[in-house]
Amino acid sequence: MSILIAYASKHGCTEGCAAKLAQRLGGKVELYNLKSGKAIDISQYDKVIIGSSVYVGKVNKEATEFCNKNLGELINKKLGLFICGSQEGDGLKQELDAAYPQELQSKAIAIECFGGEFTFGKMNFMEKTIVKVISKTNKDTSTIKDDKIDSFAQIMKNA
Ligand SMILES: Cc1cc2nc3c(=O)[nH]c(=O)nc-3n(C[C@H](O)[C@H](O)[C@H](O)COP(=O)(O)O)c2cc1C
Repeated sequence: MSILIAYASKHGCTEGCAAKLAQRLGGKVELYNLKSGKAIDISQYDKVIIGSSVYVGKVNKEATEFCNKNLGELINKKLGLFICGSQEGDGLKQELDAAYPQELQSKAIAIECFGGEFTFGKMNFMEKTIVKVISKTNKDTSTIKDDKIDSFAQIMKNA
């Protein structure tokens, strides 16, 4: 059976992490961009990974919609959940907690935050302003943790 990685990304960071996961998982892995609007039948996958970036404390709406629409089926999958975001510490814990429905979190075999990226060239004026104020930087930065992607992939692979 193949693995589905359903991801929602705004500026490409989550998409990049989904691609890294696919590479590390090997075998039959399908990447599904939740923002593509394409229909998908998840019954053919026994492992499903859902990933989204976090903006102002929330995952992208397409990730929430996907979870809510497929809740009944997702509960019976080998499930992995991840977020991309720039928060650390307690804020990160809260974000992870709020990211996905509790029913899914309690069933998930892997839950992780891979870190985040600020790519100013991809942000609109408003986003640049918010990031500059909150993170006090105007330089591109990445806190993506490849070791976390590695261990997440390993858990999913062995499940
Ligand atoms: C306007 C704005 C708001 C953000 N808000 C949050 C936030 O509330 N929490 C967080 O952890 N990261 C936040 N981030 C950081 C993004 O989650 C991070 O840049 C992520 O890597 C983006 O992933 P994407 O390119 O896949 O959308 C914010 C970034 C921007 C530009």
